[in-house]
Amino acid sequence: MTGAWRATDVLPPTERLRVLDLLNRLEVELGREAIDEGRRRAVLHGGPAEHWLRWDGELLGAYAHLAHEDVPSVEMAGGGFDDALGEILLRRHHHLRWWSRGEGIPVGRVVRTLHLMRARLPVAAAPLPEGATLRPFDFARDADAWLAQNNDAFADHPEQGAWTRAQLDERTHEAWYDPSGFLVLEVDGDLAASCWTKIHELHPERFGEIYVISVHPRHQRRGLGRLMTARGLNSLHERGVRDAILYVDADNAAALALYRSLGFSVERTDYVTHLP
Ligand SMILES: CC(C)(COP(=O)(O)OP(=O)(O)OC[C@H]1O[C@@H](n2cnc3c(N)ncnc32)[C@H](O)[C@@H]1OP(=O)(O)O)[C@@H](O)C(=O)NCCC(=O)NCCS
Repeated sequence: MTGAWRATDVLPPTERLRVLDLLNRLEVELGREAIDEGRRRAVLHGGPAEHWLRWDGELLGAYAHLAHEDVPSVEMAGGGFDDALGEILLRRHHHLRWWSRGEGIPVGRVVRTLHLMRARLPVAAAPLPEGATLRPFDFARDADAWLAQNNDAFADHPEQGAWTRAQLDERTHEAWYDPSGFLVLEVDGDLAASCWTKIHELHPERFGEIYVISVHPRHQRRGLGRLMTARGLNSLHERGVRDAILYVDADNAAALALYRSLGFSVERTDYVTHLP
């Protein structure tokens, strides 16, 4: 028998540990992250959100995280959908976006489709063009230029186009952060493109990820996207990684074509649906 869902805006320390324990157990079962990285961060460090917990007796049976966005967005640990929680949340919020990972299309109208792609490393990488310098990201020197380069490239993107200095500071202080896997390309002194990679150190397969890749619109369609993706991937390979993954919106034709040509293929498809 399953228990009732209960919400809290602040997770007390013991419940935070129980949620992290549930996330870790699910990650072992699923062989992948149990919930979006930003939501896991909100469990660890707090932050404005509704945490929904379902206790099945003494056991934390399920966890869902509601983030306060224009339309509140929900993800359940494990990536599924729960009818009872859906009903409760719709009574409270009237409209919802629900993330569903690898579970097919849940109820509602699909508003976003995201592919998880995977490739084997290394890949072929072109030489640097004349006047270009490739080097690791340096916060003091590059933060403002990187924010401008990346946010301009992602101007139409729901999450990636609004990075702040504070977020960049936080992420570059994560345990996994390694500047040798965060490459920036200067062309005639202009920060033109960047590729930020991440290694999932605790995962048994220790796979890599293209975490953020972008080329400033002024420099697009000149081969820099291909160059930076390949260089980023090979920086993972140099650190002993054999497989890399990335997430890409299904309607990002430019990025999809680029990734396919580098050997990536779709492993899983995630959906965001609008409810009701
Ligand atoms: C995706 C992105 C990195 C490509 O960078 P770019 O420097 O313009 O790409 P390149 O010139 O190296 O082209 C590489 C391949 O991408 C594809 N491509 C690039 N732009 C394209 C476009 N407008 N339409 C279709 N395919 C395109 C092509 O397959 C191209 O190969 P080809 O030149 O042999 O045809 C760039 O468009 C960008 O920064 N977009 C915004 C950020 C983003 O979407 N990042 C990826 C998120 S997962």
